[in-house]
Amino acid sequence: MKQYLLSALVLLCLLTHRPLAQTRNDTAMDRFIDSLMRRMTLDEKIGQLNLPVSGDIVTGQASSSDIAGKVRQGKVGGLFNIRGLDKIRAIQEVAVKESRLGIPLLFGMDVIHGYNTIFPIPLGLTASWDMALVEQSARIAATEATAEGICWNFSPMADISRDPRWGRVSEGCGEDPLLGSEVTRALVRGYQGKDLSRNNTMMATVKHFALYGASEAGLDYNTTDMSRIRMFNEYMPPYKAAVEEGVGSVMSSFNEVDGIPATGNRWLLTDVLRKMWGFKGMTVSDYTSINEMTNHGMGDLKTVSALALNAGLDMDMVGEGFLNTLKASLKDGSVKAARIDEACRRILVAKYRLGLFSDPFRYCDPVRSRNEVFSQAHRDISRRIAAESFVLLRNRGGILPLRKGGTIALVGPLADNAENMPGTWSVAADHGRSVTVLAGLKSALGQQGRVITARGSNLDYDSLFEQRAGMFGKSLRHDPRPSSELIREAVETAMKADVVVAAVGESAEMSGESSSRSDISIPKAQQDLLKALLATGKPVVMVLFTGRPLAMKWEDENVPAILNVWFPGTEAGHALADVLFGDVNPSGKLPSTFPQNLGQVPLYYNQKMSGRPPAENNWFQKFAKNYLDVTNDPLYPFGYGLSYTSFAYGEPVVSTISPKGNQQLTLTVDVSNTGARAGKEVVQLYIRDRVGRVTRPVKELKAFRKISLEAGERKSVRFDITPEDLKFYDNELKYDWEPGEFDIMVGGNSRDVKKVTVNWSK
Ligand code: NOJ
Repeated sequence: MKQYLLSALVLLCLLTHRPLAQTRNDTAMDRFIDSLMRRMTLDEKIGQLNLPVSGDIVTGQASSSDIAGKVRQGKVGGLFNIRGLDKIRAIQEVAVKESRLGIPLLFGMDVIHGYNTIFPIPLGLTASWDMALVEQSARIAATEATAEGICWNFSPMADISRDPRWGRVSEGCGEDPLLGSEVTRALVRGYQGKDLSRNNTMMATVKHFALYGASEAGLDYNTTDMSRIRMFNEYMPPYKAAVEEGVGSVMSSFNEVDGIPATGNRWLLTDVLRKMWGFKGMTVSDYTSINEMTNHGMGDLKTVSALALNAGLDMDMVGEGFLNTLKASLKDGSVKAARIDEACRRILVAKYRLGLFSDPFRYCDPVRSRNEVFSQAHRDISRRIAAESFVLLRNRGGILPLRKGGTIALVGPLADNAENMPGTWSVAADHGRSVTVLAGLKSALGQQGRVITARGSNLDYDSLFEQRAGMFGKSLRHDPRPSSELIREAVETAMKADVVVAAVGESAEMSGESSSRSDISIPKAQQDLLKALLATGKPVVMVLFTGRPLAMKWEDENVPAILNVWFPGTEAGHALADVLFGDVNPSGKLPSTFPQNLGQVPLYYNQKMSGRPPAENNWFQKFAKNYLDVTNDPLYPFGYGLSYTSFAYGEPVVSTISPKGNQQLTLTVDVSNTGARAGKEVVQLYIRDRVGRVTRPVKELKAFRKISLEAGERKSVRFDITPEDLKFYDNELKYDWEPGEFDIMVGGNSRDVKKVTVNWSK
């Protein structure tokens, strides 16, 4: 009998993918939490659901006051965005020594692309298409953050977005559900590791659930509206991937979904998240998003707090709606005690899994803080990852790489600015410690060459815009001289040089939260600078800083070399020098389409067919799907990026053109490096389902591999395809595949592909 029970337990563990030890731990944990909850008063349970901001970094209407007093009274479950080991230790001491039950606090933070050592913005990380590196960046972020008290991360942001007006595209993973899912998984793995209770892993939060990236007109905090079929095929996959990867928490989004704000949306937070996907962790609101439901027209604070709790929301970030109203709601029956218990338990479970009950100070480690935070080893990796994220958009006449020698004129508002290098939302960075472009170029050149500089222009002609785009101490420091004088000086400098490097584009705070733009071009002052530089006849290399896809047709047509570096992080200048001088060959590929102009937005590669497609060789025909004034082509397609070498693709070969049922299909393609230097190529595989009972996209990314090739080398790249890759949600949300013809395409970007067609029967 005993043996039978043991085998049943082993079977159960195998089925649930859980090691035996964990099952025993879970029982111990349940016992511990049961006993703790038996001792908790209703107020203390509600207190656990409360997540005030600590006061260091405040983005909305934060109103929490007397944090220590509330902690003492058991009215706080966690705090976020406090930076500093000593501060965190001190308030944790209040929680464990001075509150009645001594329940430790969770400490959260937005560690979205590094903690103190900053990596490229998430859109840049995504552009590396290198999941091992993405994971490594998250591992380092967690290593540093957990040394200084942070055990809970408000990352990854898995919001697919196809609207570059939305400033938060910078914080996300681009336009594609598969690439977005892979990046999201890698980040969750990196933050959480294999064991949450280790002192260098932290709980991740996938956000913002759901559809935050689809706000109308790219306007932050705006309405979202979407069909469920699109939602499930195109926007949900990255959140779901995080859940499958075991993410510990989920943050609700500010927007509404199907007419109900996400924070109070039971279908989303319970039916989809828990019932469909089996999520077991805790949910948290976004910053005051419970209270904001009053502005959405959902009722007063008591009503919306009850709505959120009943929907399945466990923790209230900043707004204190739960703290101040749940008791009354319990009294009048609008919420149930069992639901408060459930939310409280989920938060306690998170604390238990993080190991906070066994040692509330396990994440406060002065030795690790001294040795690991901003260590040279971490900075070296940041430099490497940054270089991998750069996307070479143009290189006419092979201007790049530059030779180490001669005179380089470095101009532009971003040429010598440390604070903007990390990009948006780098909460725990010391921005001034980042390596500027100037410092990077100088250190790479040493005695071999000279860098001369001129400011060239301000960020923009509109100084009020400059202020809005330079918040959080990240100003580009306005130069008060007249713009004509700035340009004159830059031209004079350019004339003395062999080549001009123009560091231009957006400032860090032109993207990120609350940084929507209605014009996605490079500000006029900088365009004028570029024009003046080009007029000198000197070769001009544009180093483009940006947190979003930009409309830059003129630049594409006129500037010979354009290297998009996003915001590279702490090691910006060094990484840039590595690539500009050719020590590293650029290999990043765009995770989002760059449009020709804003009017084309939203523009994305995996669009649906029109009933009236324009002819392939004649872009304008009356009564076809076309604009009068611009072709439907992007400026740079999804997946695009050049290299200092060139790659050639052979014809794809499939193991059979008539696969059957669950058979695995193998596709191989030869990729050759046809240039003179070693390089990396992202080989991308797309599939088009030619006929379906619902309309299907023109192509969808299904797999990719980043490979390295020596000059002249050829590799055969193999992809295994199964019917899993053909599945989609239909309009009744049934997830399956259908037999028929499929075009399978491979190439170095979503536009330039080679195709083979197979007929897959059931
Ligand atoms: C609001 C943002 O939407 C969210 O991403 C972030 O985690 C919170 N503020 C906390 O800073």
